[in-house]
Amino acid sequence: MPEYDVLQELPSLLLPWYKENKRDLPWRADREPYHIWLSEIMLQQTRVEAVKGYYTRFLQALPTVEDLASCDDDRLRKLWEGLGYYTRVRNLKKAAQVIMNQYGGVFPREYESVLALPGIGEYTAGAICSIAFNSPTPAVDGNVLRVLARLLDDDRPVDTPLVKKEYRERLAKIYPAQAGAFTQALMELGATLCGPNREPECERCPCAVLCHGRSHNTAHVLPVKAPKKQRRTEEKTVFIFTCGDAYALEKRPDTGLLASLWQFPNLPGFLEIPQALAAAQEMGLEPVQILRQVRRSHIFTHITWEIVGIYLEVKEPSPPFTWLTAAEIRSEAALPTAFRQFFTEDCISPERS
Ligand code: ADE
Repeated sequence: MPEYDVLQELPSLLLPWYKENKRDLPWRADREPYHIWLSEIMLQQTRVEAVKGYYTRFLQALPTVEDLASCDDDRLRKLWEGLGYYTRVRNLKKAAQVIMNQYGGVFPREYESVLALPGIGEYTAGAICSIAFNSPTPAVDGNVLRVLARLLDDDRPVDTPLVKKEYRERLAKIYPAQAGAFTQALMELGATLCGPNREPECERCPCAVLCHGRSHNTAHVLPVKAPKKQRRTEEKTVFIFTCGDAYALEKRPDTGLLASLWQFPNLPGFLEIPQALAAAQEMGLEPVQILRQVRRSHIFTHITWEIVGIYLEVKEPSPPFTWLTAAEIRSEAALPTAFRQFFTEDCISPERS
């Protein structure tokens, strides 16, 4: 007799719940593969609420894969500005070029072909193929790992390639015909009732009758997480040089962290004011007035930047910097959040601290 799999009952419980309870999200309006792909890439490491506006603006600017494949890099970075993990948008363009050149502009349907596109891993390929093409290809992300760890009362650290593969294979066996809805239903449960950093709402969960984590009273301590590597901290001094209504910017190197994005000039370490004035002079600028000093931090995946921002008015808008007005920075320059946080209204208003 084949072994009974608790997951067999999942589709019949989850699908009606999803139909009734799904959130109204812009990428659920249609099943165009370009749209699904874009949304899944944007949603990697980024909250749904943050993605909504970016998704809509991106598609307004670049409605087709062809538009994306031929988009100027600076414009593309600007469309992504503030979303973080900028490698994602470089890979989107590369993949769009592959779709144009190898597939005549038609998004490929085969899982293996989708997986081979730049920037697409097993999770994203599974999501695209199931949501856009109704293929039985599971998409196991952090939300789905949490749901399955609880359903199965699995106390292993689940965020590992081995467990992901095992869950993918188990899910593939029970995928229903409504594959796209099932993929999204699992994600939806893992984002809402069975969401992260909150008590599971088992009383409202459609899968409560199946859930071993609930019956064993372990759901609230699952999933077990493998210990995270510590982030290293780097200290920085960022200079916000102003001259008239212009600000000094420069482009970051075209490889490495935040490649090719704009930044305010900066140096390693926390500089005291006399050192900062000397550094400005070494950069060829003549400081006229210290306007303010602001302390901020920014967290990347592996690094935390602790940053002091020093606002200095200088005499001349000298090279090698690019001097842009606030309006030009807002409309044209992709300035990542680590630097943009020094460019908020309260920081750049004329009043001194
Ligand atoms: N997170 C990842 N993919 C998602 C999707 N399609 N809908 C909602 N949240 C998600």
